[in-house]
Amino acid sequence: MGTDAQFSRNMQIGRLQKGKATFFNLDGDEIEKERVEIKWDAEAAEKSGFEHFMMKEIHEQPKAVEDTINSVVKDEGIEFSEIGLEDEDIRKISQIRIVACGSAYHVGVVAQYVIEDLADIPVRVEVASEFRYRKLIFDKNELVVIISQSGETADSLAALREAKRQGIRTLAIVNVVGSSIAREADNVFYTLAGPEIAVATTKAYSTQLIACYTLAIQFAKIKGTISEERYQSLIEELLSLPKKITKILKEKERIQWFSAKQINAKDVFFIGRGIDYAISLEGSLKMKEISYIHSEAYAAGELKHGTISLIEDGILVIGVLTQNDLYEKTVSNMVECKSRGAYLMGLATYGNYSVSAL
Ligand code: M6R
Repeated sequence: MGTDAQFSRNMQIGRLQKGKATFFNLDGDEIEKERVEIKWDAEAAEKSGFEHFMMKEIHEQPKAVEDTINSVVKDEGIEFSEIGLEDEDIRKISQIRIVACGSAYHVGVVAQYVIEDLADIPVRVEVASEFRYRKLIFDKNELVVIISQSGETADSLAALREAKRQGIRTLAIVNVVGSSIAREADNVFYTLAGPEIAVATTKAYSTQLIACYTLAIQFAKIKGTISEERYQSLIEELLSLPKKITKILKEKERIQWFSAKQINAKDVFFIGRGIDYAISLEGSLKMKEISYIHSEAYAAGELKHGTISLIEDGILVIGVLTQNDLYEKTVSNMVECKSRGAYLMGLATYGNYSVSAL
């Protein structure tokens, strides 16, 4: 069940009365507003028996991911016409610039690897708070993608406005319907995570990844950089994700057991290569934000260029090892850390236990 909403813009005044909202401009004239249906219900903003919102939202990931996939994956494949992105528009894209903050920026780092790898389109990822303070050189056929859960982050909104001011096409990946970024972008890809109450993002982050993967797969198809067979198999992979997430969530007790063992860690380093590095960035942010434990994320091969001097007894090093072709390389960096006294933890794909031998 949804709720009707009306949005107030800058320099407008709203008067709320029982069952009624009226809007005025600064001269006091009444403004007619369109009513928009918000599909979130009140129950979605309650804890529903979970100990806190973050735990509830972690468990909502399978549904959030499934809903987001289903919003664009149809029988014939991925469909962006509701977003307003036509095949013709996609063919024209010369390069992509992703601009976001925090976790949404980390999604952008993943997206860079995936879009470049699948669609052969050059991608640049930028921290929104830096974006507007330097000279920006755009290509006229560039696409600027703003990623934001709230759709209200000031730096991301400013970046969007700057890109639009320079006549560059913008696409927003946003969770909150009717938010400023959603209203102002040329095209909007809504993630269907529902309300995210916890400050630390979980389900919105996962759905942003889905949005970026669907863009990468569809761009690759339109640009002709993947075969039809590969296209279909990537979609199959996407569709299998909700069940895989559910399976991981069933391991909650085991994950909590692992965390409990490291409760006294003072410093944690996440290391990985490629997408595993992008995931490390988010893991490290969550560690700081939620556990108040100092943490850093490093591209595994970069650690030796100075920072390795901090690796000593009692430091926890978490190696993210989800890619077969990069597995051995990152393992060798982990071994180096162990020789300096670090305690190692490996994050590998399901059933891959070889890292436990380190
Ligand atoms: O609402 P936004 O996605 O624009 O917020 C950007 C960041 O503030 C946000 O991703 C933040 O890093 C996370 N909530 C941290 O968990």
